[in-house]
Amino acid sequence: MKLPHIPPYKTKVVEPVYFKTKEERAAKIKEVNYNLFNLHSDWVVVDLMTDSGTGAMSEQQWAEIMLGDESYAGSESYFKLIRSVRDIMGFEFVAPTHQGRAAENILFSAVVKEGDVVPGNAHFDTTKGHIEFRKAKAVDCTIDEAFDTSIDHPFKGNIDLEKLEAVIKEYGKERIPFINITVTCNTVGGQPVSLANIREVSELANREGIPVYMDIARYAENAYFIKTREVGYSDKSIREIVTEMFQDVQVVWMSAKKDGLVNIGGFIALHDAALYEKLGQFTIIYEGFITYGGMSGRAMGALAEGLQEGVEFDYLNDRVQQVAYLGEKLKSYGIPIQDPVGGHALYIDAKRMLPNVPQSQFPAQLLGIEAYIEGGVRGVEIGTLLADKDPVTGEERFPEMELLRLAIPRRVYSLPHMDYVAATMANIKEKSANLTTGLKIIKQADILRHFTVQLEKI
Ligand code: F0G
Repeated sequence: MKLPHIPPYKTKVVEPVYFKTKEERAAKIKEVNYNLFNLHSDWVVVDLMTDSGTGAMSEQQWAEIMLGDESYAGSESYFKLIRSVRDIMGFEFVAPTHQGRAAENILFSAVVKEGDVVPGNAHFDTTKGHIEFRKAKAVDCTIDEAFDTSIDHPFKGNIDLEKLEAVIKEYGKERIPFINITVTCNTVGGQPVSLANIREVSELANREGIPVYMDIARYAENAYFIKTREVGYSDKSIREIVTEMFQDVQVVWMSAKKDGLVNIGGFIALHDAALYEKLGQFTIIYEGFITYGGMSGRAMGALAEGLQEGVEFDYLNDRVQQVAYLGEKLKSYGIPIQDPVGGHALYIDAKRMLPNVPQSQFPAQLLGIEAYIEGGVRGVEIGTLLADKDPVTGEERFPEMELLRLAIPRRVYSLPHMDYVAATMANIKEKSANLTTGLKIIKQADILRHFTVQLEKI
């Protein structure tokens, strides 16, 4: 008999899960204005709100916590982090930050100005937020296939070269500080970008003299998909693929809370000494001295180790298989998801799952509310709420996709948890025809409104 796949780790410490009744959850979610961010975590049974900072660290990482050097300047933990980044990614300079959006703040303070345009594959919301905050514009050049959840395409995170060329032509390269490639592309479903596409984008960028930057929160998962889906890479190691991914990239920034396998942290890594020096000015103003940038020594040590574990094939294989397992289960119950399944999350297509709820009534948010009441499963809306109003016109922006994301924390849940989540969604599917009205906004912020929005049922 072929032995079944098992995770390449076992449990040393456990956390309790608390159970409430459906009635208690229905009352609670109303009390917190139908905003899933307002729930205390002990009111959640399976928390799939994000895979960001929610993973379990290894015993080696916990050992690094004890070894943390908390010196204000020049801590050994900082040098461990630099050595680890250089070893895996090949960049000379590393500027630590407390998380990904802090890296965006520092990097964009140095390179983005009013009137600029940043083309790329569907920018993450904080990336877009930091671009728009500087009165610049993020233009989405993702391939069309990404926006139809029923189309099978191995690299739905790819950039459409024609769209990219059109943007360069329309705005002129002087207004484009960099082209942004996000790996994997969170916003369209944790979908990978192929090496062929990275190469084509880099060639075009080189011809135009525009630098290529990468948002590498989930770069190791992207490398896993290149190894398992792209022709010619099955025999290459994850590390070799990572080297090739970054070959023609000038700057990367990372929310290390994802593939860095830590609960907090981030960094910018680059080759250019002059730009690194410029970043240092902003790091000191916004984050702290340049050798810690908002991270504690122990957090940098844990990250140095987490980066190494994050590119191990066995770890990645287990991780992506678990996400795929939930995907298969959901599909077997007829739940419409972004297909093929991406790296870190399942994206349920709320337009297809709740066809009777108009997009103006936030169907993906409604689906999230239903999942919470039904099983205490907490996901996050990636739809009209997240899209924010247009900062210039103030009009609602309706994205092509209305998704509920169920993101899987790393090394935290087991397969029975996945079965539980799938059953929760199947129960909602059964009554989906009766769900005809959604939600309306009673209070919202101007930017990144989904975190604090207050809603009521229509
Ligand atoms: N870029 C990508 C692709 C991300 O997914 C995130 C965060 C960030 C940048 C910002 O990093 O949170 O460390 O400040 N994504 C989280 C998520 C929040 O739930 O997907 P951060």
